[in-house]
Amino acid sequence: MALPTYQKALLVQEKFGDFTLVDLPVPKPGKDEVLVKIQSSALNPVDWMIQKLGILIKDYPALLGFDIAGDVVGLGEGVTQVEIGDKVFTQGVMGNNNQSGFQQYAIVDVHTLAKIPANLTYDDASTISVGIAAPYIGLYNASPYGLGLVPPLGPENQGKYSGTPILIFGGSTVVGHFAIQLAKLSGFAPIITTASPKHESSLKALGATHVLDRSGPVTEAQVQAITRTSIKYIFDGVSTPETQKQGFEILAPGGKQVVVLHPEAFWEEGKKEDKAAIHVLGGKALPHHYELIKELFRNLTGLLEKGEIRPHNVEVLPNGLNGVVGGLRTAEEGKVSYVKLVVRPQETS
Ligand SMILES: NC(=O)c1ccc[n+]([C@@H]2O[C@H](COP(=O)([O-])OP(=O)(O)OC[C@H]3O[C@@H](n4cnc5c(N)ncnc54)[C@H](OP(=O)(O)O)[C@@H]3O)[C@@H](O)[C@H]2O)c1
Repeated sequence: MALPTYQKALLVQEKFGDFTLVDLPVPKPGKDEVLVKIQSSALNPVDWMIQKLGILIKDYPALLGFDIAGDVVGLGEGVTQVEIGDKVFTQGVMGNNNQSGFQQYAIVDVHTLAKIPANLTYDDASTISVGIAAPYIGLYNASPYGLGLVPPLGPENQGKYSGTPILIFGGSTVVGHFAIQLAKLSGFAPIITTASPKHESSLKALGATHVLDRSGPVTEAQVQAITRTSIKYIFDGVSTPETQKQGFEILAPGGKQVVVLHPEAFWEEGKKEDKAAIHVLGGKALPHHYELIKELFRNLTGLLEKGEIRPHNVEVLPNGLNGVVGGLRTAEEGKVSYVKLVVRPQETS
């Protein structure tokens, strides 16, 4: 089928500028790249943070949207791993490029995409890439980017941390949802998480062993009532000053807390107690993450097929890319509860 010359895209024209629907040329894939017709594109908190707070991106106009699922419709030079018509998903790339999700066609690096297994929809698949990359890098990349643990890929590496406790703040965040599943694959036990009580049964079905009510501070006494083994590993999927501080208090000397937002200043003091925060940046294209993420994407289809990794819950917003702005407002207001907001760019009017 012939490809269109132009597509709809949602552009942020300048720093702090509004999202504007524009026509852009459909890009052409280069070496080791494919062109993907985007069927589903999921929203992330970072989309509103970039637009509203002017963080992370220097060059404008900028295309945002970092969770992509769709069909391969064009192959660049040297691509043999996928074929036209394959259903794939990937993470978008931040910056002034054509590799983001708030458009109808994106360029994708062939080494960091995975085929969508038959048991998942495009919408399901669009919930995975950003959400899994942050805990995967935080747990398994080498220091200073992560905890340096062995990734649970292949039977010989699953269950490696059996009997080691882990605390995961925010089990119902997208990053927490995937952190719990990775912790389970790695054999961590107990897997203690924090969430609203209404999410308890879902999080236990994923692998959490204990769900503490997120409305109160989590204390060392609460954790000690669950395990007498000291806590050396924390994944903080919330990373507010409060959760960072609670983790700091609970962490044993020599322990590390992966944070998804900027570490608070008190971590400097923590060095005296041999406690540290690791600020994870889940971008697949960062050179120090690339090989690890390639390996993850090589294995993701199989993990999803077997149900060892499950996608997040989905809420589809109406009107294609026109739904992004309202969705990001909902997220900014803290009204997203254990669900990923998804738009379908081909439905843009
Ligand atoms: N560094 C990175 O690479 C990276 C990557 C992805 C995300 N992030 C950051 O990670 C954070 C989470 O993003 P996300 O997309 O995973 O989240 P999300 O799904 O949008 O977060 C919503 C969920 O957070 C829960 N929540 C809110 N405050 C909480 C608290 N104090 N304790 C426990 N749970 C709480 C809510 O629970 P209820 O249902 O009870 O309301 C809700 O289910 C954001 O700050 C985001 O910017 C960073």
